[in-house]
Order: sequence, then C-alpha cells, then structure tokens
Amino acid sequence: MCGIVGYIGNNEKKEILLNGLKELEYRGYDSAGIAVLAAGELKNFKAVGKICNLENKCLDFVSEGFGLGIGHTRWATHGKPTEVNAHPHIAQFSNVVHNGIIENYQEIKKDLEQKGHQFVSQTDTEVIVHLFEENLKNFDDGLEAFKQTINTLSGAYAILLITKKYPDRIFYAKNGSPLIVAKGEGGIYFASSDAPLVGYANKVVYLEDGEIGSMDSVGFELLKNIKPLEHNKAFAQKEGFRYFMEKEIYEQHKVLLETMMGRVSQEGINLESICGDFFEGIHQITICACGTSYHAGMSGKYLLERISKIKTNVVIASEFRYANPVMEKDELFVVISQSGETADTLEALKLAKANRLKTLAICNVDNSSIVRESDGVILTRAGIEKGVASTKAFATQVMVLWILSVYIACQKQLLNQDEFKNQVQSMLQASKATKVDSKLHERLKRLSKRYLHGHGFFFIGRDIFYPLALEGALKLKEISYLHAEGYPSGEMKHGPIALADSLLFTVALMPKHLLYEKIKSNVEELSARDATICAISSQDFEVADDMVYINPGASYMEEFFSMMVVLQLLALEISIKLGNDVDMPRNLAKSVTVE
Ligand code: G6P
Repeated sequence: MCGIVGYIGNNEKKEILLNGLKELEYRGYDSAGIAVLAAGELKNFKAVGKICNLENKCLDFVSEGFGLGIGHTRWATHGKPTEVNAHPHIAQFSNVVHNGIIENYQEIKKDLEQKGHQFVSQTDTEVIVHLFEENLKNFDDGLEAFKQTINTLSGAYAILLITKKYPDRIFYAKNGSPLIVAKGEGGIYFASSDAPLVGYANKVVYLEDGEIGSMDSVGFELLKNIKPLEHNKAFAQKEGFRYFMEKEIYEQHKVLLETMMGRVSQEGINLESICGDFFEGIHQITICACGTSYHAGMSGKYLLERISKIKTNVVIASEFRYANPVMEKDELFVVISQSGETADTLEALKLAKANRLKTLAICNVDNSSIVRESDGVILTRAGIEKGVASTKAFATQVMVLWILSVYIACQKQLLNQDEFKNQVQSMLQASKATKVDSKLHERLKRLSKRYLHGHGFFFIGRDIFYPLALEGALKLKEISYLHAEGYPSGEMKHGPIALADSLLFTVALMPKHLLYEKIKSNVEELSARDATICAISSQDFEVADDMVYINPGASYMEEFFSMMVVLQLLALEISIKLGNDVDMPRNLAKSVTVE
C-alpha cells in the first residue's frame, strides 16, 4: 500500500524518482507525485492515476547538479484519489510524503488552523509538513523541529520530508511502515521496499520502528546495521506474458520446487530456519492472516489436522485483534503474509507475542516487519509477485504448510516409511501439476466468454477444496469486479441454494480423490434448480453445462494444485475479456499497511 522513494545526489532526480515509483506502482496507484529540491528551487508535480500520467506532467522538467527528491504512489485512505490529495503535501517551503495513517491528525489540524495554517487536502498527511514548519519557529535545529513533529504523531508511518531551509538533507522517520535507506555510487536512496533500489544501491539499512533522522550525502556510513543489498532480487519483468499475473501463474511449477528445495527429500524434512525443538510443548496452532494468505491458512488447517493431528484454529487478523482472544501456553501462533507488512497481521503478531506465545512467520519477503518480529520463519521463496491478485505466493504458502504438516507428523512419529514417501512423492507431483498446459489455457480462454454476464458466481468445494473455492471466488472478485462467493458445497442447501437459477454460475470443484460422491450430490441439487454448472474434475459429470478436465493424478493434493491453476486462469481470462487492468485492479493494493 502506497510506495515511497527518495534520492540525494547529482544525477537526474526526476528520472530516479519516477523509475523507483514504477517499481512500487503495484502497491498503490490512485495517484502519484514527486518533489525535487535543487539550486534553491523546490518543484513538485502530481497526477491522478498511474505513474505514466505523472511522467507526462513533468516531461519538460530537468534539474541539474546536486539536489534532493522525494516521491510517492498512493492508495487512498483519507480523502479521494484527487490531485490535491496526492503526495507530496506542501506547506510554505517544505514537502512531505508519507505511508501509513496519522490517527490524531484532526486534533493537530485544528490546533494548526488556529495558528493560521491553511489546509487544502482531506488527507491526514498534510498536517506533518505544517506541523514541521510551525515547530521550526521554536527550534534553531531542523532535526529537533522534525523530532518534535514526529513525537506529536500517533499511528503508523514512514515519512520523508524535504525543506528549502535545509537543502542538503532528507528528514526521515519510521514507525510501523517499512522504510529503507540505501547507498550506491550515484548517491543516497530511500524506498519503502527493495525493488526501487536494485541497480542503484549496494548497501542498505532497514530502518527500525522509532528511528528518526536527517540524511545528507555523507551521513550514511554512520548508520547502524548496514547490509549489502542482495543483487539476485532482479527486476520482475513480464517476459512476453500479457500481464504479471499471467507470468506468475505460469511460474508456479518452478517456484514450488524452490519452496521444496533443500527442505523435502526421501530422507526426511529439513526446515533450515527452525531449530529441532521448536515444536516442543506445542499442542495447538493458531494461524492468523488476511485475504489470500488467510485462504492458504484455512487450507493449512486441513493438512495440519489430517497429517500431523494437531488442533488448528484459523483467524482473520483484523478480527483477532479486538476480540479478546484466549491464548494458551501450548499454542503456536503462525502468521502468513506474502508481503510481511500487512498491518492487521503484524499487529496480531505483536499481540500474540505480548501474550508470550511462540510465533512462526510464513512469508515471502525476508527482512520484512513480520519476519523480523517472529521467533521462527519459513520463507515461501515465491520470488517477487507483482500482480495484485496473489497467485504464486498462495501456491507456495500452501506448500509450506504442507511441508510443515509432514515435518510435525515426522517429529510425532505419525507416518511410517511408506506414508512419508507418499507424501514426498505427492508434493513433487503436485508441483508438476501446476505447469500450465497450453490446451487447458486455450479452453479457458474460450470458456471465459460465456461467463461475463449473469448475476453472480458460486464457487463450491468440500474439505480443503472449500478454502480453494473461497480463493477462486476472491481471485474473480479482485480482477473481474463480478460478484462471487465461495461456499462449502454441503452448506448450499442451508440457504444459498435459494439463489439458484440459470444466471447463477456455479464453479464446482470435484476432486476424484476426496469426497467425490458427496460433492456430486451437492452439485446435482444445484443443477436440479437450473443453476449453470461449470465442473472442474477429472471425472465426467453428466449434469455439468461446462467441463474443465484436469489430470486426476494420484492424490487429492495434486488435484488441489491443478484446480488452483484452473481457477486463476479462469479469473484472468474473464478479467481480460472485460477489459480490466489485471495487474492493478481498481481499489486494491498489493500490501495494506494500514488498519
Ligand atoms: C491485500 C492484497 C491481497 C492479500 C492481502 C494480505 O489485500 O491485495 O492480495 O492477500 O493484502 O496480504 P499479505 O501480504 O499479508 O499476504
């Protein structure tokens, strides 16, 4: 959610800022802006919509010699996505960009208005820059004025501020939102994640919560915890695919092998980052997450209970936080997050820690806030995921949960040699099952044309195919804007079946290897009420209006991963047919760092 960049140096500021913002654009794309301070001039540009609109606005702008710049791409929280509400926010001689939320901005605003400050936007951010200029009246030192400003704010923030009074430095602060300061040959860089830094910087500092400072072109070496920037975090490119989401769907069979690499073999499961006694004394698990990661968590519950016989509870992070949850000493708190920065999940994690629970993160981003907060970590190794609708991150999360289930089962000596080998074999087959078959993709392209109207979709499944149905519905909602719900198929008769008619499309997940006869009867009940049925199965099903055939494989988990790909491709093709922006769907952001 929202992206921040900053630069201090002699190179073309505008270009560095715009390139950085393009790398972050998938995180929020309602509006964007940059501010450049060079040769005593402070110029800013803002535009509604994507970065290319901003680029057009500042086409003729150049700034030579030493200078500073800050930039922002926004996902609106306070105030509509208009140019006035876009960052940077501006006072008399200073500009600010901010990620997060200032909870007490209304009080601060009132106070400043009484002192004569005039506000133009509806945002919470604008108070920061006015408060800073107000504080400068009382302090000789800019950093002291900035510290005083930050200490007045409550909420979550990553902030960069520049001012004509100090034309050689960027003021920065971090609390609850990620912020990185980096150095390369061209100068000093700031960013809210690694991606904009690749190719520019080679040393980085991941700032900690509570850090406030001012950085000039020589101060970097004085910072603590300087690390090299990993260069293998290459830029994600579309590589001939129409969309990042499509590319990421196609990558799944490769990244799933990465997830397993070094961890799964016929000899046993080896979780490199977890000590052997990590699960000692643990008798139950609570999994906590949001969105797609929550669906992975729900899938994990079936695996953990079935394979490792451990009681598992799954909770939505935003609900968990304020529900006065009961936490037990023998409970492991597992958080799942592709970004590692989701505010609801991060805060739930902190709550569990405060209650002395042992914590484990399943995450795609090393060094992210969630990873740093957790006692143990299993990285999902999906690589950069750019499509806002999560695909390969989900696949790898489920795989990690599966590996974890087998790992715990082995520790508890629940599996004999053959059962263990079957699990490993099944994991390998499941990864292979995600390789996209071109005929299947063609079939879904054609089929998608028939599902662009109607008044909604039901995605139904049983057991672990129920969370997969929820995920299929979420994928479709996110990028097609069509109404879709996921249901356990046995539950349809208890209410939802009332909606059944020919314009209600039912996508039925019908695995051969798990409860086939049960789901078959549920789908027949729907068909009898004239619902249009699209069945995904390896088995012929007479009452289906459309069939999408998958390979039956040897296990229900192979079927799970095959069906996952079908659901992702179906959502993709429907979205493309409707003319939507697949990678950056309306109103969404890749990582949501506000409550
Ligand atoms: C946002 C994204 C979703 C994602 C959710 C949780 O809403 O748009 O795709 O599932 O956040 O994100 P996380 O990074 O914690 O997995």
